[in-house]
Amino acid sequence: MTTEAQPGTAARAARDRIHAQIDQVYIGPPAAVDLLLTALLAPGHVLLEGVPGVAKTTLAKAFSVTLGCDFRRIQFTPDMLPADITGSYILNLRDQEFVLRHGPVFANVVLGDEINRAPAKTQSALLEAMQERQVTIEGHTLRLPDPFLVLATQNPLEQEGVYPLPEAQVDRFLMKIEMGYPSAQHEARMLATYDHPRPPVQPVLDPGAVHALRAEADQVHVAPEVRDYIVALVRATRGHRRVRLGASPRAALGLMRATKAHALLAGRGFVLPDDVRALAGAVLAHRLVMTPEAELDAVSGADVIDETLGKVTYRGPADR
Ligand SMILES: Nc1ncnc2c1ncn2[C@@H]1O[C@H](COP(=O)(O)OP(=O)(O)O)[C@@H](O)[C@H]1O
Ligand SMILES: [Mg+2]
Repeated sequence: MTTEAQPGTAARAARDRIHAQIDQVYIGPPAAVDLLLTALLAPGHVLLEGVPGVAKTTLAKAFSVTLGCDFRRIQFTPDMLPADITGSYILNLRDQEFVLRHGPVFANVVLGDEINRAPAKTQSALLEAMQERQVTIEGHTLRLPDPFLVLATQNPLEQEGVYPLPEAQVDRFLMKIEMGYPSAQHEARMLATYDHPRPPVQPVLDPGAVHALRAEADQVHVAPEVRDYIVALVRATRGHRRVRLGASPRAALGLMRATKAHALLAGRGFVLPDDVRALAGAVLAHRLVMTPEAELDAVSGADVIDETLGKVTYRGPADR
């Protein structure tokens, strides 16, 4: 008999405390916060997309504060340069020496707010940081702190004054969370409580706790038939007639890691096909580049993932 605690006890306790803090400032379904937490443990970066005024910044900021890690916010603007993100070497006139001025990317949690208001060149300054957890400034490569998590917000592409994120950058976001309008009940509650004094959001984790939770998520077991299911799903997106660019191998790996975190938060030490189904949309849909005809017909990546989940069947150990 083992006396080990149930898997995910610490992760579930962290989730309850994070929800309690975020509930002070964000009124909405718990799903968005649960996805943020899943990405934190996977680990992976998150893109929050929605029209102005649906609390993207409010939610991202509140979540960041609860993590108790070093946190910086970067407000993206059209005139921004890559060095505004990474930093640069400046001449110290007194000593006649170049010293590094660290940019805001040197933090555990970076909120890239309205990321698609900056041109692609500037967005790309985040690319190396997101994939390699390092930045190169004038030929010098510097490590970023660990944990390193990027939360970015963006307006839908139909909005004016936005540049689309380059495909390579989109693929580096583990998930995209779509933030829609609140329900009538939630919106009414927001109006009823808007002038109530709110205690500031308090940190409930710290970098060490984040490391420990990530290590536990990494221990979650993925059976070969679940891996095969993930592979079958991503491959189905590649051959889909509505899709010009399907999900990458990076996407497959990201989906598997996200399902481990999802299972842990559900108190399981192993992944079920339902974990895969629950996350396939958030992890895969934003990476699909549709054909021009599909765009005209308003068929989205999310539609393709829904259809794919309906078509690709999970084969358990007995059917393999
Ligand atoms: N679901 C919500 N719960 C609480 N406040 C909300 C909600 N939606 C919008 N708000 C309020 O509306 C304002 C706009 O929110 P903000 O986070 O700046 O939106 P966005 O970043 O999506 O443009 C804030 O004052 C925020 O408190
Ligand atoms: Mg905002």
